[in-house]
Amino acid sequence: MNIPSHIFTIFGASGDLTRRKILPAFYHLFAGGMIGPDCIIVGAGRKKMTDEEFRELTLEALLEAGLDGGEGAAKWCTGCVFYQCLGEGSPEDYGRLGERLDELENAHNIPGNRIFYLALPPDAFPSVIGNIGEAGLSGSAGWSRLVIEKPFGRDLESAMKLNDHVHRWFDEDSIYRIDHYLGKETVQNLLVFRFANAMFESVWNRDRIDHIQITVAESLGVERRAGYYDAAGAVRDMIQNHIAQLLTLITMEVPAAFEAGSIMQEKIKILRSIMPIRPENIVLGQYDAGKIDGKEVPGFLEEDGISAGSATPTFAAVRLYIDTWRWKGTPIYIRTGKRMPAKTTQIVVVFERPPVCFFQTIEGCALRSNVLNITLQPDESFTLSFDVKKPGEPFTLEPHDFHFSYADAFGRLPDAYETLLLDIMTGDQTLFVHADEVEASWKLFEPAIDPDLPVARYAAGTWGPGKAAELLIRDGHSWSVRKGR
Ligand code: BG6
Repeated sequence: MNIPSHIFTIFGASGDLTRRKILPAFYHLFAGGMIGPDCIIVGAGRKKMTDEEFRELTLEALLEAGLDGGEGAAKWCTGCVFYQCLGEGSPEDYGRLGERLDELENAHNIPGNRIFYLALPPDAFPSVIGNIGEAGLSGSAGWSRLVIEKPFGRDLESAMKLNDHVHRWFDEDSIYRIDHYLGKETVQNLLVFRFANAMFESVWNRDRIDHIQITVAESLGVERRAGYYDAAGAVRDMIQNHIAQLLTLITMEVPAAFEAGSIMQEKIKILRSIMPIRPENIVLGQYDAGKIDGKEVPGFLEEDGISAGSATPTFAAVRLYIDTWRWKGTPIYIRTGKRMPAKTTQIVVVFERPPVCFFQTIEGCALRSNVLNITLQPDESFTLSFDVKKPGEPFTLEPHDFHFSYADAFGRLPDAYETLLLDIMTGDQTLFVHADEVEASWKLFEPAIDPDLPVARYAAGTWGPGKAAELLIRDGHSWSVRKGR
């Protein structure tokens, strides 16, 4: 792979995301020979640190991620990892960062290619982007790219404002809005599954599919991100971005080509074709204390850093209808929550039952739907359930599975961040989110962030409030998750 030499500046260098995801992903790429010593990292942050101290922090991050880099990692750090303090973030501080980038480019013979990665809390985005722009850091001799983590805005209005702000200094072609779900192998595989296997595409419609469910459940609570999460909640944190992406990939039409623009167009068409979400199709919840894996866990309101009496939802479920020829009338149910019984991301496609029961002479014989379960994580797999005749007498039908497991077929899957970092370096925007897509998604999900919506209670360690089950029971359905191995 030909990666042009460049400097990759990480804003928020001592933060959690940099430590847990970005630095380990970089080292994986380096150790695997995907990037060379001419990819220079500059950590930038408020903290005063020397290059050497940042290298130590980098090595610690690798160890925490289970990567014992040994001498190789130390050598990589010395050659490729640097730090620049931004102090209070004054124009002078950014001026000094610019000088440092120039110096490093000269020393390493890099033709001015720059990537600016904002691994920062969202309220810091506007000022840092403004500072990068005002200091002229993006106006170097080569190309400049800006990488922004989610959430992009906190509603439609703020997302539009942020888009205008970013566009003052960066063209849409050089903006990489991250939704790390798009970097997951199993999420990318949704395109292959649907568009490389003719068998499924012909039944992928309202005539053959009864309904679709998407569950993104986590057993963790808010961990060390109480401040951010309390201001965001489940819809802003997971639905407007990650689930919206899964939803579009699983329902969109075949794009004209396998490239960013064509795929983005189809995703936007789906987001714009979903009927406005009515309040009766939204269920919000917040967890109380409970038990997960036999361990007592506190309620959301007892977590450190959560404001007293907070009404932030930690669970959300929504019923949607896509108003297109392909999907008219097929309900799509999505849900996400913290402190659920397990961590799992699954798409469940429930097919129509056979129109007539050929086996009506068998006592008690009811035909079931075929169900396709796509487990995106963990235990990455596909499972298609179908009925077989149980050998022997009496004549009985029994459900069984076709099963495909990623781990059995491929072993370790690369982390989403490895894929995304490489794509940023090569300039491939296929797995990133366009300005219009972000705005279409906010527009769609705005009814679900209405602060007047009721927030029901659920005990930690359960699948959310009872009302979320009712959302499906009304239609004669029930939530389904497949247990991992
Ligand atoms: C992040 C959310 O985007 O995704 C977190 O902000 C959430 O709240 C995380 O825990 C889940 O990601 P993954 O890859 O572990 O499913």
